Amino acid sequence: MAEKPGIALFQCQWCLFSPADQDWVDNHLPSNIYLTKTPCTGRINPLYVLNAIQGGADGVMISGCLPEQCHFVTGNITARRQLEEFNDFLNHIGYEKQRVRFVWLDLQDRCMIQKELAAFEKELKCLGKAANLVTRMKVAEGEQNA
Ligand code: FES
Repeated sequence: MAEKPGIALFQCQWCLFSPADQDWVDNHLPSNIYLTKTPCTGRINPLYVLNAIQGGADGVMISGCLPEQCHFVTGNITARRQLEEFNDFLNHIGYEKQRVRFVWLDLQDRCMIQKELAAFEKELKCLGKAANLVTRMKVAEGEQNA
């Protein structure tokens, strides 16, 4: 893959304690990374992930707080379980499992988000461009959707 893979980054607003790391994410993300901030990973509807993929994302990273540090107690655990099941579905329709990554960040971490994104980007480059998913079937004139 010659060009950089497009990455949709869903970030819990509480998972980056370091102001420098948050400033980097807010203001200095490389142009191939698209940020969506959420109040908690538990608020990420799997359809948001599907929407990012339909928009051309070669990979999706979800960064959240450690299990015991979620502001909503079990939001991150619930999100991870739900998104892993959704990832099975995505894999079934042709979007490889390795293209969706869940990352838990410790409040003590510094520069971890940059390292995780760089490693993820490298792996996505090896995978190549994501296949276009046929998630919507065109209906021929005169036919009805099943
Ligand atoms: Fe960060 Fe729930 S508040 S994952």
